[in-house]
Amino acid sequence: MRSAADPVDVTAAVEVLRAGGLVAFPTETVYGLGADASNAAAVTRIFEVKGRPLGHPLIVHLSSADQLDEWAGAIPRDARRLAEACWPGPLTLLLPRSTRVPDVVTGGRSTVGLRVPAHPVALALLRAFGGGVAAPSANRFGRVSPTTVAHGRDDLGDDVDYVLDGGPCTVGVESTIVDLSGGEPEVLRAGGVSDDVLASVLGRPVPHWGGGGAARAPGMLAAHYAPRARVLVLEDPEAVDAATRSALASGSVVGLLAPVVTDGLSLEVIELEPAGGPEDYARVLYDRLRQADRLGIEVLVVVPPPAEGVGVAVRDRLRRAATDA
Ligand code: TXA
Ligand code: MG
Repeated sequence: MRSAADPVDVTAAVEVLRAGGLVAFPTETVYGLGADASNAAAVTRIFEVKGRPLGHPLIVHLSSADQLDEWAGAIPRDARRLAEACWPGPLTLLLPRSTRVPDVVTGGRSTVGLRVPAHPVALALLRAFGGGVAAPSANRFGRVSPTTVAHGRDDLGDDVDYVLDGGPCTVGVESTIVDLSGGEPEVLRAGGVSDDVLASVLGRPVPHWGGGGAARAPGMLAAHYAPRARVLVLEDPEAVDAATRSALASGSVVGLLAPVVTDGLSLEVIELEPAGGPEDYARVLYDRLRQADRLGIEVLVVVPPPAEGVGVAVRDRLRRAATDA
């Protein structure tokens, strides 16, 4: 039922979830493509619609940390601390799964990713639904995550049963994933919650897992965050100048994305609107990459933001976008 506190009417979306359908919904990070996490057939459809290989586990979205015990089989104290400090927010906790989590959600793994998103529409949906909503980003497999409802529609069109519009995402890159499923906590994916925040909550720095993404968090190693253009990440202005010149000389359509306006650029280079400091950069990154595709840019030279705060996550995504795979 619609309550006065709900920012939008989520009744129809809840009915779709209960019937085993798919709902695209906004979060503060990126749009998600959600299904009832307890309904294995509904979750399987997510993989079909996205074109995502089975075995890439999904994050289960909850309305509050009170639901942790239903979905996790063990909850270390560090997990409780992080949940209390960062939820609702762009943090996913990887924990031993409870028996109620279907295999298809976790790709058969013994762990489950859980998060409470900080978006009024997502929270209204999750509260009204009552259960967990399994959701990856609402893009086709291999495309950049959607940060507006139009991005999601461009990618998934009529394959989604219901779309909730919550405006542009305010964080713009995906959640930070922290593995708390055994031993010392480790960051598996940089994201919206910065290293500084994690360290201040736990009273010690949380290392980033350095072993490559394949085994620990499948779906994060290959170039999953790439536009069609070849991406070159360069920081030194002379290197930027040299790279744009040589790409132009070889006949490519060349674009540039940078934090600020770049002086002395060749007129033939398509300069995308500057992305600003780390937080602004994160917010606009995926829209700029999609824009590069629309403009037919073949070589995109990118000057990243500094590795501060969410800038670490932006640099991580750009590094992946620049990886041939
Ligand atoms: O911000 C976000 O996290 C967004 C919004 C929609 O919540 N979701 C998102 O989902 O980015 P997705 O599916 O695009 O990325 C989730 C990542 C995957 O790379 C997957 O490998 C990892 O989380 N993951 C989820 N559950 C896991 C598990 N049990 N073990 C290892 N990795 C897991
Ligand atoms: Mg994704």
